[in-house]
Amino acid sequence: MNILEIISKKRDKKALNKEEIEYFIEEYTKGNITDYQAAALVMAIFINGMDYEETKNLTIAMAHSGETLDLSDISDTIIDKHSSGGVGDKITLIVMPIVATFGIPVAKMSGRGLGITGGTIDKLESIPGYRTDISLEEFKNNIKEIGISLIGQTKDLAPADKKIYALRDTIACTESIPLIASSIMSKKIAAGANKIILEVTYGKGAFMKTEEDAIKLSKIMSKIGELAGIETVCVITNMNQPIGKNVGNSLEIEEAVRALKGDMEEDVKEIVFHITALIMKMANLGDNLEENKKKIIENIENGKAYKKFVELVAKQGGDTKYLENIERAKYIVEVKAEKEGYVQDLNAETIGKSAIALGAGRMKKEDTIDHTAGIVLSKKIGDKVLNGETLAYIHTNKENFEDVTKEILTAYKIGKEKPEEYKHISKTI
Ligand code: URA
Repeated sequence: MNILEIISKKRDKKALNKEEIEYFIEEYTKGNITDYQAAALVMAIFINGMDYEETKNLTIAMAHSGETLDLSDISDTIIDKHSSGGVGDKITLIVMPIVATFGIPVAKMSGRGLGITGGTIDKLESIPGYRTDISLEEFKNNIKEIGISLIGQTKDLAPADKKIYALRDTIACTESIPLIASSIMSKKIAAGANKIILEVTYGKGAFMKTEEDAIKLSKIMSKIGELAGIETVCVITNMNQPIGKNVGNSLEIEEAVRALKGDMEEDVKEIVFHITALIMKMANLGDNLEENKKKIIENIENGKAYKKFVELVAKQGGDTKYLENIERAKYIVEVKAEKEGYVQDLNAETIGKSAIALGAGRMKKEDTIDHTAGIVLSKKIGDKVLNGETLAYIHTNKENFEDVTKEILTAYKIGKEKPEEYKHISKTI
């Protein structure tokens, strides 16, 4: 067996067998297959797809490409949550500390930004000192001691995903059901949780453009989860416009801090409460979601949720004082409406691309991020706008922001008619 035969087979639209998939994952992880050969195969998978059997074999091979964590000595119920990616998606940062206030152990391994979507790890790293690269031993200890740990993808857990994830980002291969399913599920299997909740996004700012594809992706991930003995619940969310107001790393930390103190945007609130209430149900803390939501409000209002986040930041070496005084970019520039009416559309893809242009994301694997760069949206779908009113604020350290200002204006569609109510959650599978 060799990599050329495997690439040709997928290029010619044939299904790969288990041995071929295992060979690719093992040899690429070891560095015996080059990035350009892996890129060719990943592109062939992107174009020609994979059936369930191939996707499952790819997931399992990636999950076992490094260590796998056993967290059974911590608790019978270890919950993990993951998003398939979005623009302004800070839900994980808000949900996980709230979950931990109920004594449910949180073991969360997150990724960096991919394509136009932001990554939880890049957001956490905007907090000075926060270490996302702690050892697995420290990860486990933190969960034992404070009930929560949020880390980046270590080189030890699912290293094949780490390499393929970074590669996909730079060869325009992010929007693929088998590649997303195997990427997410391999990490989840390796990280040792036995119950997972997946926020599966669709729309302009997500990898799945349609609700139908998000459902397809959810079903594949649930089936793989079942096979691995992991209870898997998928919440399908609408990512046509960004979630919440802030897009960009430290700006999203700021919004998460506000949310954990009780000041949440309506869309953020709906998704956070639904997912947290479901997690409580999965952890046998109550089947009635409305009752669970009342308990969530209590733990936000009594300060426990924010306190848990501060505890997490401190435990992982972050500067907790920074949370009260988040650094701003040098320039904050208004983007003003050029006509009056209702916001009928706010294109999350355009906003995501604009945020990257400002420095909030990467164009190349090795690019560094400007943590303070991003966009704050003052108006969202359904809002009334007056001519000359502020639609959004650009946060940037770059002197030249004319092009981004124009681009953000194209993200907004303003018209006379008030649009239909925007649905944030489509279904739970
Ligand atoms: N999140 C992941 O971990 N992987 C993907 O491919 C997409 C989102």
